[in-house]
Amino acid sequence: MQECKCRQDKSHFKKLTIANIPEEFRGVTIASFDVSLYKDPESKQRAATAKRAAANFVKNFEAMRTQGKGLYLYSYEKGSGKSRLAASILNALCKVYDSDKNPLRVLYSSAVNLLDEIRKTFGKDSKVSTSDLIERIKNADVLVIDDLGVENVTDWVEQIFTTILEHRLTNKKVTIFTSNLSVDELDEKYKAGRVSSRIEKMAFPIYMPDERVRSHLAKKENEMLQDILFS
Ligand SMILES: Nc1ncnc2c1ncn2[C@@H]1O[C@H](COP(=O)(O)OP(=O)(O)O)[C@@H](O)[C@H]1O
Ligand SMILES: [Mg+2]
Repeated sequence: MQECKCRQDKSHFKKLTIANIPEEFRGVTIASFDVSLYKDPESKQRAATAKRAAANFVKNFEAMRTQGKGLYLYSYEKGSGKSRLAASILNALCKVYDSDKNPLRVLYSSAVNLLDEIRKTFGKDSKVSTSDLIERIKNADVLVIDDLGVENVTDWVEQIFTTILEHRLTNKKVTIFTSNLSVDELDEKYKAGRVSSRIEKMAFPIYMPDERVRSHLAKKENEMLQDILFS
């Protein structure tokens, strides 16, 4: 996980490599977040609402920044578009803030990866000091924590997230979360309740569709393959 000053590199691609957005989400946009992929009418509606909120979030980012408000994108099904939408928001912000004047430092990491990266700094050979890395995570202008809640929560993990989120809350830094749990349900994993109470203050919850778009897409791809293979 590395820090990205969005404006530092001229090429969009390079910027995003630094921001560590997963390969499959590089360059994805909010506009191309496809609401028609969802079959269930309720899913379609939730997807449309989430898409609109994402676009408005970017449009009103200065206000969000002043208030230190982020988003909490959650739903129970995997492959329903949570990470896709979070990455699209980050991509859009990088585009809007694409000037050298006011670089936006963004970070994108899954919760598991973020913890791994911190653990790696404990090693003697680590080039990055633990405190430097944590400072960077604490102070990124926009931090995406993907898939919060799948990590194995120990006291140390709870303490790390509490420290990071407390700093970001106090300093009004924007954080976007994705999760398979609602904010309340996070308490089942983060038992002290300090994580969820901070997230409640720092992120607006958006209930995403509970529909496996990934499977729909895979089926479509197979259908296309079938045409090629058996024509
Ligand atoms: N609304 C959408 N429009 C286009 N592609 C989507 C949409 N939702 C999901 N996908 C694609 O489906 C796959 C799974 O989505 P993802 O965001 O990783 O799911 P989640 O984070 O909810 O588990 C990804 O390849 C993603 O690009
Ligand atoms: Mg995801």
